[in-house]
Amino acid sequence: MDRHVQALLNRLSCVAVTIATFTLLLLFIRTPETCISDSDPRAAKIKFPRSSCDSTHREIISLEKKNRRLWSTKIWRKNVDSYTELFHGIQSMGFLTIHSRVLCVSAGAGHEVKALLEMGVTDVTGVELIDSLPLVSRADPHNLPFFDGVFDVGFSAHFSESLFPSRFVSEMKRTVRPGGVCILAVQLCSDEELREITGLFKRSKLVGARNITLIGLKMTEIIMRNRGPP
Ligand SMILES: *[C@@H]1O[C@H](CO)[C@@H](O)[C@H](O)[C@H]1NC(C)=O
Repeated sequence: MDRHVQALLNRLSCVAVTIATFTLLLLFIRTPETCISDSDPRAAKIKFPRSSCDSTHREIISLEKKNRRLWSTKIWRKNVDSYTELFHGIQSMGFLTIHSRVLCVSAGAGHEVKALLEMGVTDVTGVELIDSLPLVSRADPHNLPFFDGVFDVGFSAHFSESLFPSRFVSEMKRTVRPGGVCILAVQLCSDEELREITGLFKRSKLVGARNITLIGLKMTEIIMRNRGPP
């Protein structure tokens, strides 16, 4: 009985080995087809990397080209327009002119910077943890690389995502001159939350708070007048 089983297993192994060998031979003889044939004109252009270290054939997009692509998208335009509307409101309240020196903190890809530049504000600085040149340079919002009081207006629509809110606020306030304003657009907040946020600003006065829609989100705009040194 045992011998029978042994013989059967041996035969099975032989069959398996034969099948495997044939499959392997077949693979050697006929390379698998790719979805792009040699006659396809695209095939001449597309070259697959030889290894994960092979970067030679990758298309390197220039910054200018990348920005042109990004700035021509509908969503980019829509968001910039939304910021433009917000800044027009701030301008009409008298907190912003085209001569203001403006700092945009946590500016992301720079929608707000673009909006201000398009409005004719010439002195705009955008910072974010990751740079998006030429609109936004790299800087930590909790440790801004600027002297005290060098800006007229500090703006951020991303205060809500800050890891250290009080540090974020004190840094923005430090770089804005006495008499200048710090403007935050935060997630829609109640009066209680509004008091908490304004409480983070030392030697400042709340001069405006209103609920707005920015980039499709319901938000609260808070304007604080800077009344003294940091
Ligand atoms: C904004 O909306 C919230 C929620 O509806 C409300 O509690 C708050 O008072 C509003 N704030 C302002 C400044 O109108």
